[in-house]
Amino acid sequence: MAIERTFSIIKPDATKRNLTGAINARLEENGLRIVAQKRIQMTETQAKKFYEVHAARPFYGELVSFMISGPVVVQVLEGENAVLKNREIMGATNPNDAAAGTIRKDFAESIEANSVHGSDSLENAAIEIAYFFSGTEIIG
Ligand code: CMP
Repeated sequence: MAIERTFSIIKPDATKRNLTGAINARLEENGLRIVAQKRIQMTETQAKKFYEVHAARPFYGELVSFMISGPVVVQVLEGENAVLKNREIMGATNPNDAAAGTIRKDFAESIEANSVHGSDSLENAAIEIAYFFSGTEIIG
């Protein structure tokens, strides 16, 4: 198995409810190491570009509004098979479909306010990490 890095966001619904520590505990308990982390207020321009792949979807506008509605915590996670492992720890996009014990099952409010984002591939992880972090901010 390969050591990978993936990108994660703790979304505004979770920071608002003071769940940063609880979510980080889930990540660490499951073997992922937080090798970079910062709390930021995303700008509209940043959020639009980050979710550009969803620009044609009906929920795009609301998604961008939600992501700038409060602070988020952007992170780089490192570990064996980190991309897939983080997706397993997060659970399905829609909390109604998420497995028991996952972050989204336990914390998410809705399909939009679903507490966390995680990269869906190693290729996208590299793009998303570079979008928010410089190399010197990541301490493995
Ligand atoms: P995320 O993993 O950040 O990627 C895209 C986001 O769009 C997703 O999580 C959800 O928060 C949000 N979203 C809102 N509505 C939908 C929807 N109907 N289907 C999929 N994603 C949605």
